[in-house]
Amino acid sequence: MLELKNIQQTYNIGTINEKRIFDNLNLSLPRDEFVTIIGGNGSGKTSLLNLICGSIRPEKGQITLDNEDITYEPEYKRYKKIGRVFQDPAAGVASSLTLIENLALAENKNKPYNFGFAVKAEQRKSLQERLSVFKLDLENKLDEKVGSFSGGERQAVALLMATVSPIDYLILDEHTAALDPKAADTIMKLTQQIIDMDKIAAIMVTHDLTYAAEYGDRLLVFNQGEIILDTRDQENKQEILRDPTYLEKTYGR
Ligand SMILES: Nc1ncnc2c1ncn2[C@@H]1O[C@H](COP(=O)(O)OP(=O)(O)OP(=O)(O)O)[C@@H](O)[C@H]1O
Ligand SMILES: [Mg+2]
Repeated sequence: MLELKNIQQTYNIGTINEKRIFDNLNLSLPRDEFVTIIGGNGSGKTSLLNLICGSIRPEKGQITLDNEDITYEPEYKRYKKIGRVFQDPAAGVASSLTLIENLALAENKNKPYNFGFAVKAEQRKSLQERLSVFKLDLENKLDEKVGSFSGGERQAVALLMATVSPIDYLILDEHTAALDPKAADTIMKLTQQIIDMDKIAAIMVTHDLTYAAEYGDRLLVFNQGEIILDTRDQENKQEILRDPTYLEKTYGR
């Protein structure tokens, strides 16, 4: 269980741009849930993910992972248990390295020492086997530089890299937003496949309400730093996502 307790967060403290984004945020994220988060621009979605991953520290409050206090644990340590994929496909990959080098680096991230870029035959074989499961034809592109891949392929690689070593939580920040509709669908299917296969929890921020309707066991709606809706009821979720007045209130349009 990942828990955020009594979180207070203010940006630009002491300046005219001071902004309190979270006043007293409380949220429990069990290990077996796929949580979808929607909400308008600036409502605090990325700030929440940054707090979870340790990219920012809360001003007040506590973050625990399986009852262990991780509030001040550095970001790189959290990435042993947490995988993250960003909106920009280029952010998650090393473009000048080959696919197999990218995957091996990601897989070696928790190991005490790294053997450089020389990928051992055994590791190559196991990574190739994992890739074949997803039927994206990536298993035939092991020695191609990721910089030559399409945006959709790069995002698939970023997703596979985030999940190649065992993690508990997958954090997705609008990870399909930069892709064309077909590539976005492929990435969403891959996301679900990985979550089911590896039995991991996921927290996905999206502005795509079709995906919010289709994916996730639980829906959170953010509005100005507050969780204004938290539901596991799929029917309730569909109703809300179809309700123009509700969405108008949430998105202010
Ligand atoms: N590092 C920062 N320094 C100052 N202000 C910040 C910082 N990060 C976020 N903010 C502000 O906090 C508010 C919430 O931002 P956040 O990025 O969490 O929103 P979001 O819900 O992810 O929005 P979007 O849908 O546009 O990605 C915004 O007003 C933003 O300008
Ligand atoms: Mg954001």
